Amino acid sequence: MQVRKIDFLTDYWGLAMGAVEFNGYRPPTLAAALATASQAIIEARRMGLDHMSCNLPSSQILLAQGLQAAGFYLADCFIPMEAWTKDAARRPIGWPLGTWIREAFSPDLDDIERAYRDSKFPNRFVSDGFNREKAYALYGRRFREVYEKQLGKIFVADIEGAFAGAIIAIVDTETNTNPPSGLGLIVAPECRGKGVGSALVEYRQGWYYQQGVERVSFGASFNNAPMLRCLERLGFRYGGATLCFHRRL
Ligand SMILES: CC(C)(COP(=O)(O)OP(=O)(O)OC[C@H]1O[C@@H](n2cnc3c(N)ncnc32)[C@H](O)[C@@H]1OP(=O)(O)O)[C@@H](O)C(=O)NCCC(=O)NCCS
Repeated sequence: MQVRKIDFLTDYWGLAMGAVEFNGYRPPTLAAALATASQAIIEARRMGLDHMSCNLPSSQILLAQGLQAAGFYLADCFIPMEAWTKDAARRPIGWPLGTWIREAFSPDLDDIERAYRDSKFPNRFVSDGFNREKAYALYGRRFREVYEKQLGKIFVADIEGAFAGAIIAIVDTETNTNPPSGLGLIVAPECRGKGVGSALVEYRQGWYYQQGVERVSFGASFNNAPMLRCLERLGFRYGGATLCFHRRL
């Protein structure tokens, strides 16, 4: 079991956020699970943290119950999904009429932030207890960071020349796949349900294919039906479920 501070979230919210990782540990009993969760809380308090999160595969039932007994609540359920990039090239989907995909310019970052600001997120972590404005801005800030530090590409979809959506594409050169987190996708609220999100994911799959990346993982909250549907249409397969727990300290 390991507790670590998450600097990215800590800096932004001004709360000391930490994460507990069990590194494959499987407790033999509920009592052992509770003892481990309690130990994680003691460790986190010793580190001066205010909030803790923990992501677990849903198969880790005893650990989930141990966390619950230790006062953690279920904040979200994440569905990881995976696809071969060659599949996107094989089965092209139709894009909405007048759609054009290109690389981002700096004025797009304002449109991206506006799109997040005007969005409703089906995620309890974002909707409960935290400052919504800051939580949304955090996603927008990620796009800005990728653009300014050139961490990867940002692709933008326009419909008839007006901003419709954007997606982050990064290659993790150590594993030759995409990084496990930090990829964003946003469609302007007025453009949703027309196929823009699917077009952006498809375009990015094609780009990954050209970069020599064979397999890509992406996912969404369990109740983000439009996102899961987009991925399913593009041949992504479910990779189980991740339970996301949270606790104030
Ligand atoms: C998720 C998101 C990117 C999808 O973009 P989009 O352009 O609306 O997606 P598409 O139009 O390509 O596809 C959406 C699919 O979901 C379906 N859908 C939409 N709302 C739905 C709902 N409430 N329940 C079930 N299905 C739904 C649509 O019918 C469509 O499927 P279909 O074409 O087979 O009918 C967009 O909703 C968004 O920006 N959300 C906020 C940010 C976000 O959640 N980003 C992803 C974080 S991982």
